[in-house]
Amino acid sequence: MAGETILVLNGPNLNLLGVREPEIYGNETLAEIEEACLERCAELELRLDFRQSNHEGELVTWIQDARGNAAAIIINAAAFSHTSVAIHDALKFAELPVIEVHLSNIFKREPFRHASYISTVADGIICGLGSQGYLLALDALWRLLHGNDEET
Ligand code: DQA
Repeated sequence: MAGETILVLNGPNLNLLGVREPEIYGNETLAEIEEACLERCAELELRLDFRQSNHEGELVTWIQDARGNAAAIIINAAAFSHTSVAIHDALKFAELPVIEVHLSNIFKREPFRHASYISTVADGIICGLGSQGYLLALDALWRLLHGNDEET
């Protein structure tokens, strides 16, 4: 059975992927992104814990619980990226490698999306590459956790 658990967290409105502004976020559903992450985790021998919530407090609780239980966190906090000091604080508390992902290039969009409370606690940031960003984040975490000496 696969090794370390990677917690992948998705924030508000990401449950609507595939229907919501497909010209910005693409046609893939969140379930399809989860499936692609599962496949990549099987290849990398990682365990996937993939979640979505529209509620800030629920995300905060999941991040708190990750401390000591998960090996790393990938987070697309969606709109909470631009507003949530609580998620920022929880990620600091978790003391885990964190990769921030956004499907869209937030810097090409409205000014209110240019700042993220997640970025200052993230080890890496991937944005603008659509759902591929999640898979790149898994690859990057594998290297972070295992060093650069082995090729996958
Ligand atoms: C998003 C970008 C955010 O600004 C937005 O609120 C989202 C999705 C992205 O994945 O591109 O809901 O995080």
